[in-house]
Amino acid sequence: MENPLTARELEGYLTCPRGLEELSANQIVPFVKSVKPGRGGVKFIADLKGLYAVNLHSRTGMYALIKLCEITAENDNDLYRQLIEFPWFEWMAHDTPFAIRTRGNSRIFPNTNYFTLKVKDAIVDSIRRKTKRRPNIDRDNPLYSLVVFVDDKRVQIFLNSSGTPLSKRGYRSEKIHKAALNEALAAGIILLTGWQKEQPFYDPMCGSGTFPIEAALIGRNIPPGSYRKSFAFKKWKNFNPRLWNQLKEEGKSGINQEKLQIYGYDGMGENIRLATTNLNNILLKQWVKFKKQDFADFNPGDSGGIVVMNPPYGVRLGEDEELKTLYTSIGEVLKQNCVGMDAFVFTGNKEMTSFIGLKSKRRHILKNGKIDCRLLQYPISQGTYTD
Ligand SMILES: C[S@@+](CC[C@H](N)C(=O)[O-])C[C@H]1O[C@@H](n2cnc3c(N)ncnc32)[C@H](O)[C@@H]1O
Repeated sequence: MENPLTARELEGYLTCPRGLEELSANQIVPFVKSVKPGRGGVKFIADLKGLYAVNLHSRTGMYALIKLCEITAENDNDLYRQLIEFPWFEWMAHDTPFAIRTRGNSRIFPNTNYFTLKVKDAIVDSIRRKTKRRPNIDRDNPLYSLVVFVDDKRVQIFLNSSGTPLSKRGYRSEKIHKAALNEALAAGIILLTGWQKEQPFYDPMCGSGTFPIEAALIGRNIPPGSYRKSFAFKKWKNFNPRLWNQLKEEGKSGINQEKLQIYGYDGMGENIRLATTNLNNILLKQWVKFKKQDFADFNPGDSGGIVVMNPPYGVRLGEDEELKTLYTSIGEVLKQNCVGMDAFVFTGNKEMTSFIGLKSKRRHILKNGKIDCRLLQYPISQGTYTD
């Protein structure tokens, strides 16, 4: 088996929130040799530079994985026998902490814990046989994080090149809004709305500011990975800093200074303070205007822009009445104050959407973690009536 870290072409898999596969594939087209959207991710072929570029530029990706090996195993012994032959030691030194997670199902390997243990034993023994030393397992801070996908006899082992998920851009303060959206999902939603940077962009329930901040990154063409210090691939033996710095410089040269009209409002001052801190953490103060404002007072006028909001879903008992009032007011305010705008509501509470009382033109089904969510589009024209 060829060592993929020295191979010219890497077989990659970029995971992403469900529903954003096509979008994720389109974004990485300029950096890779081929792409194929799947379920919850995108297959791609790239060289090392392409892999770095996917990590730097993907707005909707979560983890960029590369395939190290693929085998067909008949039983535990066969699995061990084949995996011990793979040259793990070429890139995982005896003192390199690593971790393994297993995904998938198999009738041949029904006990996932035992299966994972077998894979780990084969890797550890392979390295020990070569170096006479035993590598460390470190679940919390691994240098190499392996993901094993098993589907009956088929076993594929991937290496996570990103480390922490790419959605963690690095602008959030330690204090996190309890309902903050995953940044990759937020960016995907903005891209789905078709917002153009010349248009006004409003989030009247912005919480910690994820939509407005992601819109500013998109509008200025700032590579989403620009602010991250850490990527797993930077700690690998084969890390090529020249290639990485060149990519970062190329990314920087594409950033524009255009004026943007991005606005974020929230009824709670505490959230506005949080959003402002997050924005200031990446020095984008002049590109977004945050202010405390109740949704009832939202009135952007006919500015031909986009309104995107992520109202509370309400998971606790007794919140329903409050939510019905809020969702009813969404329809009212949009109808009265936002004629000429294209409005989008992203929510995980399907029942509540009927209280908006407007006819949606389009909807996208997306997953927010484990929650099934919808992004509903309401073009607001004069005389928009209910279903
Ligand atoms: C699900 S959270 C939004 C989280 C946000 N997308 C983020 O990533 O941080 C919903 C937000 O709506 C705000 N909100 C609820 N009712 C509101 C109202 N009547 N007026 C303004 N904001 C409201 C809440 O304060 C909360 O921050």
